[in-house]
Amino acid sequence: MVSVLYKADPDRGRTWSSIFSARAPDIEFHIWPETGDLARVEYLIAWEPPPDLVASLPNLKVLFSSGAGVDHLDLSAIPADVPIVRMVEPGIVDGMIEYATLSVLALHRNLVDYIGQQAAARWLPIKVVPAAARRVGVMGLGVLGQAVMNRLGPFGFSLSGWSRSPKHIPGVACHAGAETLDAFLGQCDILICLLPLTDDTRNILNQRSLARLPRGAALINVGRGAHLEQQALLDALDSGQLSAAILDVCVPEPLPAAHPFWHHPRILMTPHIASMTQPETAALIVLDNIVRHRNGQALLGAIDRHRGY
Ligand code: NAP
Ligand code: GLV
Repeated sequence: MVSVLYKADPDRGRTWSSIFSARAPDIEFHIWPETGDLARVEYLIAWEPPPDLVASLPNLKVLFSSGAGVDHLDLSAIPADVPIVRMVEPGIVDGMIEYATLSVLALHRNLVDYIGQQAAARWLPIKVVPAAARRVGVMGLGVLGQAVMNRLGPFGFSLSGWSRSPKHIPGVACHAGAETLDAFLGQCDILICLLPLTDDTRNILNQRSLARLPRGAALINVGRGAHLEQQALLDALDSGQLSAAILDVCVPEPLPAAHPFWHHPRILMTPHIASMTQPETAALIVLDNIVRHRNGQALLGAIDRHRGY
């Protein structure tokens, strides 16, 4: 019997398990650390698997990341003939649309200022800027970046995006490639980072790139904490180059209690909850991919190891 091993959030694992037993009773489903016979595991669904787990699975056929990112995996430790599939499922997309919209609207309507003003009992209206005059830019025009753009469009924001390869998205000024980064940044009043973490994107939000934003711009980081050089953000906020930041990801996670981000008056933090894989929808996507794999069809969401995403 084919066996699936799940090594991610155990509570959500129980929902995965019941969906698998209802839809695919011919597949054994194990929630780590209970593994069954390791030699029977053909499919691994994992978030931050222990370093030796993959090596203990001699018949592994496909590794599914339980999240959209694959940076939590050591790609070099996964046999070259084992495809790695990132999570592309409607629950993650909907969650990210909600969080990005919430954050853009919060910054657009000066919520960080009003939180500070309420703490000081100050009644001080700030001029409302029309959405059409607010330029919102998204770094990363993949599944999530494009979904976020689609939902922000109807508010009337002036939208632009940046990716590696050229894109044509109606209503969005699209920029592609490292040589266009400065021009893109120069017209982002609100910048959203939705990049995957790779060797090319690590520390991409640094002193140099933050200085390219218009003065007083705001940052939303929902990519990975390692996209951001922390001291560069603090310096940019203290100098007024940036007006605010909303951070869902940081290094390390959880952020230590003494970290300056916690009490910075211009930073709002959330504990990496922008978007979570929803078992109800994700299990169906993985089951579909298992069928595809058994039928020799292409896997949806397979990453390119050379690009790292
Ligand atoms: P995706 O579909 O693979 O899209 C990635 C996008 O980034 C693509 O448009 C890609 O360009 C672009 N990109 C990659 N490297 C680049 C570079 N060096 N220069 C310019 N653009 C580059 O990924 P996704 O599903 O949208 O997810 C994106 C990331 O969001 C994940 O990897 C994860 O880190 C993060 N995430 C965070 C949360 C959270 O809760 N905070 C939840 C889910 C995901 P091309 O289109 O040209 O390939
Ligand atoms: C969460 O961060 C994910 O990559 O899905």
